[in-house]
Amino acid sequence: MRVELARWEDRLVVVKRLLGTHPVASQRLEREAAVVGRLRHENIVPLLGISGDASLIYAYCPGVSLEAALERGPLRPRRAIKIARDVLSALAYAHAEGVLHLDVKPANILVKGETALLTDFGFAKDLGLTAITTQDMLLGTPSFMAPEQFKGVRTDHRSDLYATGAVIYHMLTGAPPFGGQVVRWLAGDDRVPLDPLPESVAQYEPIVAKALARDPDERYSCAEEFLAALEDVALAAT
Ligand SMILES: Nc1ncnc2c1ncn2[C@@H]1O[C@H](COP(=O)(O)OP(=O)(O)O)[C@@H](O)[C@H]1O
Ligand SMILES: [Mg+2]
Repeated sequence: MRVELARWEDRLVVVKRLLGTHPVASQRLEREAAVVGRLRHENIVPLLGISGDASLIYAYCPGVSLEAALERGPLRPRRAIKIARDVLSALAYAHAEGVLHLDVKPANILVKGETALLTDFGFAKDLGLTAITTQDMLLGTPSFMAPEQFKGVRTDHRSDLYATGAVIYHMLTGAPPFGGQVVRWLAGDDRVPLDPLPESVAQYEPIVAKALARDPDERYSCAEEFLAALEDVALAAT
């Protein structure tokens, strides 16, 4: 997959194009088109169109990926929490539409200032469409992947909530949870410690811990509940 900037009808767009003819990649692109084409939300990068030669045309979002933003270390708490709220708003909407993202991570979040947009629904599961194989999920970084997803057992909207918890942890600490031991943790080893959040943002510790629970039943039950918890703490902190 190649992502490049182009001009289209006098506006800047981002074209996501298939490079080869790999069936998994083309299946991913088709899935992405089918799923994101019907989503409209202020925190989701809008799909503008599909072009015949297996490419998707997106609105260009000025700014940087959250992954790039995090290269310079942790974000200021206020900005981190606003980005988290935007991602959770996007997920609350997508989940209500029957869409699971399943690849929430900093590279798939575009940020400009304190506003965030979720993108890359290439691994998304649309509960209204037939299931896609999830074997290729393991190609990516496991740092933001929920344990049940890593193990290839049933995923649901709470896998996205785990990933969002991992993204918040990264924004507040400067590194993803469980560091170099993440695979051991994902494989089931509860002795792997989660380094605590810095003192200055310790009030978010219970929220992040709940989102990162191994058992989905112990996480927030939905994105709205997660969002409300975050807003409560953010409000108390100001
Ligand atoms: N609409 C956009 N506007 C600006 N940059 C984008 C846009 N879409 C993607 N990008 C950039 O390209 C990168 C890869 O895009 P993504 O959709 O995640 O493709 P892939 O399927 O290759 O992961 C993102 O991390 C981001 O830096
Ligand atoms: Mg991506």
